[in-house]
Amino acid sequence: MKTKKASETSAITTHIVLPNDTNTLGNLFGGQLLAWMDVIASVSAHRHCKRVVVTASVNNVSFQKPIQHASIVTLEAKVSRAFSSSMEIFVDVFVEDQVTGIREKCNEAIYTFVAVDQNGGPIQVPELIPETEEEKKRFEGALRRKQLSLILAGKLDPKEATELQKLFIG
Ligand SMILES: CC(C)(COP(=O)(O)OP(=O)(O)OC[C@H]1O[C@@H](n2cnc3c(N)ncnc32)[C@H](O)[C@@H]1OP(=O)(O)O)[C@@H](O)C(=O)NCCC(=O)NCCS
Repeated sequence: MKTKKASETSAITTHIVLPNDTNTLGNLFGGQLLAWMDVIASVSAHRHCKRVVVTASVNNVSFQKPIQHASIVTLEAKVSRAFSSSMEIFVDVFVEDQVTGIREKCNEAIYTFVAVDQNGGPIQVPELIPETEEEKKRFEGALRRKQLSLILAGKLDPKEATELQKLFIG
């Protein structure tokens, strides 16, 4: 199976926050942002494997700053690592200042998607090659995050979490 560079999985989308997207404080509703992130992450995962993909887990969602009504919001997604059938995708969210145009990062999330066949069963995906420093850093941490996610989902015995043991026990 042909390998893919992380850069080939890049997916970017821009939204403007409309009244229907806001909560009672006039800021972007968190659920709306999660939906936007899920869609762009799935596009990135699809660019990596060119198969049907489903969301397996959402981890490390952080809403660091409120995003006000009428803000211009850009979401950038990229696969950080591919395993057997699953792919970890980082979504970085930026808000653009209306006057200066300067972008500020305001949110981040880490998604796991799984490539599936016509019966919904997991199928093999290509290996991912990280190139930039950030891509390599995210690649290296991905197995640790996968093991943590599987423990939280009750799908992995903590005793088998080799990467977490290295982190906490040495
Ligand atoms: C995701 C799904 C395909 C996994 O199927 P499964 O029978 O559990 O298959 P497996 O246990 O073999 O897991 C498949 C892969 O997903 C990974 N995975 C499963 N659950 C995970 C979790 N909570 N966190 C991280 N990775 C997970 C496994 O580690 C495995 O990865 P690998 O093949 O790269 O090593 C299945 O659970 C599913 O269809 N879920 C519903 C998806 C969906 O509808 N999403 C939209 C939500 S509305």
